[in-house]
Amino acid sequence: MGSANRLKLGLFGANCSSGRAVTMVPERWSGSWPDCLQLAQMADRAGIEFMLPIGRWKGYGGATDYQGATLETMTWACGLLAKTERLTVFGTVHAPLIPPLIAAKEFVTADHIGAGRFGLNLVCGWNEGEFEMFGATLRDHEARYAYAQEWLDVVKLAWSPAEDFDFAGAFFNLKGVRAKPKPYAGTRPMIMNAGASATGQAFAIRNCDALFSTISHGISFAETVRHAAKVQALARKQGREIDVYTVGVVTCRPRAREAAEYYRHCIVENADWDAVDSILAMKNIMPQTHAPDEFRRIREHQANGMGGLPLVGDPDMVARDLTQLAAAGLTGIAVSFVNYLDELPYFAAEVLPRLARSGLREKPGVI
Ligand SMILES: Cc1cc2nc3c(=O)[nH]c(=O)nc-3n(C[C@H](O)[C@H](O)[C@H](O)COP(=O)(O)O)c2cc1C
Repeated sequence: MGSANRLKLGLFGANCSSGRAVTMVPERWSGSWPDCLQLAQMADRAGIEFMLPIGRWKGYGGATDYQGATLETMTWACGLLAKTERLTVFGTVHAPLIPPLIAAKEFVTADHIGAGRFGLNLVCGWNEGEFEMFGATLRDHEARYAYAQEWLDVVKLAWSPAEDFDFAGAFFNLKGVRAKPKPYAGTRPMIMNAGASATGQAFAIRNCDALFSTISHGISFAETVRHAAKVQALARKQGREIDVYTVGVVTCRPRAREAAEYYRHCIVENADWDAVDSILAMKNIMPQTHAPDEFRRIREHQANGMGGLPLVGDPDMVARDLTQLAAAGLTGIAVSFVNYLDELPYFAAEVLPRLARSGLREKPGVI
């Protein structure tokens, strides 16, 4: 990603209605194109490194139909890349839902539009209801990653200088493949994956430039350090380097109490609990399967941006938490807000300069 900042920052989930906060508050995120475009241009000026969309095909219901209206991520990325100058914009693509050669060409097209600023978030899928919509079958967990391996091998071959090639695998049998143009200016798009299982993480370590891991509330600083170090050591054993990122939800206000109150207002008092429960049920997390305290903890965590580190407090507190992540060996974090456009200016004005003073980032641009 095009900056030398030690802690890279991105915005996560802006292509979806409600973004990542499962809340009913009226100011929740629209996910509309004009709002996404304004946000991307603001982020670009502030020196934020990337925008990461969510590949979501079916909303989760509830009073808000949480994430019910989503902009398709590849076309979204192309639009934003055309209208920004520095940002990396990811497309989030479900490998099993699109043939790899069509996908490879879409990626190259986006990469040319952005002059090398396109990134790929490869996902294998987990939500059966989404797959049924396509008439597709969600493979068992291990097979999902075996399929994704071949799929990505084909994409990388299509990007390579190879002129014509054949591919014979367990899932694809392709003859006389020709794919031009190649990615922008002899580079290739950055590839990330967010596998959480051992198989998913091994896939990322083998194939990707970055692994995004959710560090849930309660996981200690020491565990975070261990996780990042373990992933990086496993990559080095294969002669590779991998960056480790995480995901967070920012509620930053001038006073810590205000931040805590707003968090409570959005995420507890006005959470869209029906949507939360429907998401959790898809993951088999229910009162019948979990102890009451544990169920309550996970439920609240899920309401706050579908999981992810809650960064709640005044600018000093939020900057301190972010500084700790960098010290733990993380390369960066993708954050969300209840309303990105309303809240990014304050974050950029107050938190980014503190990170610059800690030496983690360049001084932010004026938005
Ligand atoms: C940062 C991040 C982004 C993700 N984006 C998506 C997405 O857009 N669409 C999706 O279906 N799954 C998404 N996932 C889910 C992961 O791709 C993956 O399925 C999940 O972490 C479970 O890991 P596993 O496949 O190793 O079991 C995301 C997860 C994280 C942490």
